[in-house]
Amino acid sequence: MDKILTTKEVAHLAGVHKDTLLRWLRDQRVPEPKRNRNGWRLFSEDEAKIIVSYARGNQQPLGVRENRAAFERWEIALERLKTMDWNFEGIGTGYLTHSLHPYPAKFIPQIPNTLIQELSSIGETVLDPFCGSGTTLVEALLLKRNAIGIDANPLACLISRAKTSILNDSEIESLGRLRENLSIIADSPRISGALSLFPSKIEEDLESQKPDSDAIAFWFDPHVIEELALLKASCHQLNSERARDVALTVFSSIVVTVSRQDSDTRYVRRNKQIGRGETIRRFIRALADAIERLKNLADLVGIPSKCKVIHGNILEPLNLETVDLAVSSPPYPNAFSYHLYHRNRMLWLGMDWEAFKRVEIGS
Ligand SMILES: C[S@@+](CC[C@H](N)C(=O)[O-])C[C@H]1O[C@@H](n2cnc3c(N)ncnc32)[C@H](O)[C@@H]1O
Repeated sequence: MDKILTTKEVAHLAGVHKDTLLRWLRDQRVPEPKRNRNGWRLFSEDEAKIIVSYARGNQQPLGVRENRAAFERWEIALERLKTMDWNFEGIGTGYLTHSLHPYPAKFIPQIPNTLIQELSSIGETVLDPFCGSGTTLVEALLLKRNAIGIDANPLACLISRAKTSILNDSEIESLGRLRENLSIIADSPRISGALSLFPSKIEEDLESQKPDSDAIAFWFDPHVIEELALLKASCHQLNSERARDVALTVFSSIVVTVSRQDSDTRYVRRNKQIGRGETIRRFIRALADAIERLKNLADLVGIPSKCKVIHGNILEPLNLETVDLAVSSPPYPNAFSYHLYHRNRMLWLGMDWEAFKRVEIGS
């Protein structure tokens, strides 16, 4: 006699969460099995094989009946979305890693959160093809979905990677040590005298950290340039790539505040009178805050789902795997020029802002 399997067993065989299998059944994506007297589903081995095959991406094209079902499923979902309260006035938007780095025109996290909850299941994959600072990706991970983000802005990719990093203890420790070493330097009367705290030849490294551009002397005070060079060199001394991404994101987060650029959305010069040591102190404060936020993220996400950030132009063919849902807030024409407002940050990080400018939509 054929072996009979429960919903949980079939979900396990297919490598998906039970909720995902229930959603596939509800949406008629996979065959509905018989039920026993108590209403529990009983799957035959053949039915289980179809589901395992579906989970591995070997999906048959939808027939007329299934097409109608898929269409009705979306109709129902859209009706449900219309009845929801989308007014998030007064609600906190900077929780966890969402406030690691400023990013103009970013999503209110509650919007992707609601859409992901309503339109996908645990274990599925959510794509944001204009991921910017990674708001969708963070929410997807919190909701136990896998996430893929694409953006043409290399700075957006760095921020997205940092905001979705699930750091291990030794990475957290290395960031803590960086913070302590920099605290000693910031408080010492002669910064250069305290450089021996760093493991290797950081002094030799400092000149090479300064961007080769006239714009730097125009936008930064000389002592700020020295301190930024030291910070960048110290970030690069971190061994772990994830810890480095986090430290460089924190570095980038303070660049505009210590420059003469008026603000993140105003590219005009203003003297802000940044004192000596202030650049390093701002970095230390921002790093301490980032470490706490990343620890909290790691506690909530637990065993991480997969998250991939792709640096690419969405108008060119990209080799993408199948995704279950796309959630995005696209660039809108004439609204914002990320290459312009992020230029000083990108110069410091050695990123090619001109290449980004050529492909940026809406700038
Ligand atoms: C409105 S923002 C998205 C913000 C994001 N939802 C967030 O929460 O941070 C639009 C994004 O589209 C990106 N973009 C513009 N042109 C692009 C292109 N050709 N390919 C991929 N991304 C592009 C920009 O770099 C920007 O990050």
